[in-house]
Amino acid sequence: MKSRVVPVLTARTADEAERACEAIVAGGLASVEITFRSDAAVEAIRRASRIDGLEVGAGTVLSVEQLEAALDAGATFAVAPSTDPAVVEAAQRLGIQFVPGAATPTEIDRARALGCDVVKLFPASLIGGPAFVKAVSAVFPDVRFMPTGGVTLENLGEYLALPSVLACGGTWITAEADGIEERARAAAEAAT
Ligand code: 3PG
Repeated sequence: MKSRVVPVLTARTADEAERACEAIVAGGLASVEITFRSDAAVEAIRRASRIDGLEVGAGTVLSVEQLEAALDAGATFAVAPSTDPAVVEAAQRLGIQFVPGAATPTEIDRARALGCDVVKLFPASLIGGPAFVKAVSAVFPDVRFMPTGGVTLENLGEYLALPSVLACGGTWITAEADGIEERARAAAEAAT
C-alpha cells in the first residue's frame, strides 16, 4: 500500500467515485479501496485508476470473477473480508496483490499457509482492536496486518503505532461526499 490509511469507498456511481478519489488525493492520501458492494464498482475502479498519484485496490473481492474484473479495470491490489483459497490462488497466478481477511489466529495462519504475507483483520474493533493486533503480531512475526472495521481518526494512531500494521482501512473518510478532502488530510497527518 502506498498509504498507511486506505479509504474504503463503496461507489453509488462512477462519477461520485471519481470525485471522491480526487478529494482523497488532494487530501494527501495515495491509496483507495473500491468495494464490490455496488454495481458501479468496476467502472469506478477504471476511472479511479486514471487519477495520477492514486493506487487503486478492489475491496470485498469474494470471487475469482470479481478479482479478474478488478484487475482488468486497473486495480493493483485486492482485499477481502475472508480467505477463499480459490481467490488467493487466482491472485498469485494473475500477479495481483491480494489481502485476505481473518478474525482469529487460525484464520491468520491459514492465510499465511496459502502464501499471503499481508492479512486484513476484520472487523478489527470487534475482535479486540489494537490489543488483538499486538497479540497476534507476537505469534505471527512474518505477517503484516491491515486492520479494518471500526477504525476512526481517533483510534487510527493506536493501530499505526504497531510496526506490524502495514495500513488501516476504513469507510470514515468517504462516508459522506462532503469533507472527504479534509478527512483524508487529517488521516494523512495522523499517519505521519
Ligand atoms: C470494509 O468495508 O472493509 C469495512 O466494512 C469497513 O468498516 P468501517 O465501515 O467500520 O470502516
